[in-house]
Amino acid sequence: MTNNNLFSVDQLTIRFGGLTAVDRVSFRVEPGSVFSIIGPNGAGKTTIFNCISGLYKPDSGSIIFKGENIVGQKPHRIARKGIARTFQNIELFSRMTTMENLMLGRHIHMKTNVWTGATFFRRGSRAAREEIKHRERVEKIIDLLDLQSARNQFVGGLPYGTQKLIELGRALALEPELLLLDEPSAGMNSEEKQDLVFWIKDIQYELGLTILLIEHDMKMVMDISDLILAINFGKPITEGKPEEVQRHPEVLKAYLGEDEVIG
Ligand SMILES: Nc1ncnc2c1ncn2[C@@H]1O[C@H](COP(=O)(O)OP(=O)(O)OP(=O)(O)O)[C@@H](O)[C@H]1O
Ligand SMILES: [Mg+2]
Repeated sequence: MTNNNLFSVDQLTIRFGGLTAVDRVSFRVEPGSVFSIIGPNGAGKTTIFNCISGLYKPDSGSIIFKGENIVGQKPHRIARKGIARTFQNIELFSRMTTMENLMLGRHIHMKTNVWTGATFFRRGSRAAREEIKHRERVEKIIDLLDLQSARNQFVGGLPYGTQKLIELGRALALEPELLLLDEPSAGMNSEEKQDLVFWIKDIQYELGLTILLIEHDMKMVMDISDLILAINFGKPITEGKPEEVQRHPEVLKAYLGEDEVIG
């Protein structure tokens, strides 16, 4: 990626009634980097993601993706432009298989409807070729995230950590340039977290994606972030390299009395 102005947020602000959930937040994400947003519960992290992915319309500020202000565009349009996300709470179809969930992640690339396509297309037809191409892409993601054993299982019956990975896979199936991960390690055990770090690095280096990460696990944040933005009460506290942010007095204060221990 040669474009060095992939993604930036400028003076982003959104209010809910009397509450300013995000208050003049600005940052820029370097292509190919992992940029993390940290802050206590209710700080406004997910709200920033909701603005970026088009679920919320900010009151003011701009969100620039590849030179274009995407504020006010609908979520599917933003996804089509190359921004995919995972949710803080898993949002998968539990009575569908892993493969089916990942195929749904590809819907924005499909010219033929995935269901009618699967049922009615003729062998060798354009729809059939398209379906094969999509399946190949999904198989690559299954390989990348080591999800072979889950491929044909209903997602609802799989362990929590595996479901989180499938959500990640579904976001990757969109073939995004920018990937938003909202607390991907929440609810994972330490082994699953280690694997997740490994996969995120793989996604960063092998797929060349740019990653915007919200994460409460400070060890993980410090391990994988190139830059970190700390916010509290919707406002930026500081931005910098992990070792700088970790030592910032305001950051330490914001986390005091919380379970998360920095360091
Ligand atoms: N749709 C909404 N309507 C009203 N208030 C909202 C809405 N969405 C978010 N908020 C409020 O905005 C604030 C920021 O919430 P947000 O979910 O962004 O926090 P967060 O930093 O992601 O917290 P957590 O770490 O707990 O996930 C909270 O006070 C929340 O209640
Ligand atoms: Mg949140």
